[in-house]
Amino acid sequence: MSDNIPRHVGLIMDGNGRWAKKRLLPRSMGHAAGMKRMIKLAAHAKERGINYLTVYALSTENLAARPKEELEGLFDLMRKYFAVNVKSLFKEGAAIRVIGDISVLPQDVKKLLSDAQTKSPANAPFTLVFAINYGSRPEIVRAARRAAEEGEITEQTLSAHLDTAGLPDPDLIIRTGGEMRLSNFLVYQAAYAELYFTKTLFPDFTSREFDRALSDFAGRDRRYGAATSAPKG
Ligand code: FPP
Repeated sequence: MSDNIPRHVGLIMDGNGRWAKKRLLPRSMGHAAGMKRMIKLAAHAKERGINYLTVYALSTENLAARPKEELEGLFDLMRKYFAVNVKSLFKEGAAIRVIGDISVLPQDVKKLLSDAQTKSPANAPFTLVFAINYGSRPEIVRAARRAAEEGEITEQTLSAHLDTAGLPDPDLIIRTGGEMRLSNFLVYQAAYAELYFTKTLFPDFTSREFDRALSDFAGRDRRYGAATSAPKG
């Protein structure tokens, strides 16, 4: 594996519904398979030396438009993850952070999310960031309002009021499931992110394929607007 490892990876976990449909299973089973996959990938990302993995678990649009039954299934997965599975992450010294407007979630889910953050160690080498009821546009509007209340809006003051305050910008964003767009995920923060798209449905996205995305990233020429560098030898 290359030593050019991204510090922060964003992951758009798309394709759970299609994965379930192909197997004639309910969509909720696709999300359950997605959660298992996410757990494996988080452990793998940590092992690879990535410091932050941000997973898009529920977008603002999903919350508004998905059937109640599907949302209940997702909340049940969150209950299970944050009450049970999260313990193994803590045992390894990793931390949890949540971004998005969680104020509208069921009371017990909100409590589990805030407890997970409170229990998280400071200065953890690895943080798993959950984007829940997250959308970049509402995030930017909230941040702009708060920054304006306090004074001038600059890149620094705006960033300091985004949900991601304190996190480095993502270096790499991976989207599974075949669509090639960001869908309101870390839009401001992704200004210089490298993008990696794969048709693989999220429950089938193995650690091996994650490594392929890392290798692809390692070969990219990140110029941040500077002139082209000499060809790679
Ligand atoms: C998009 O696939 C995926 C989601 C809306 C949910 C992703 C959630 C998980 C992987 C579980 C996360 C676990 C926790 C604990 C938060 P889709 O349903 O839009 O797939 P489709 O495009 O094939 O229909």
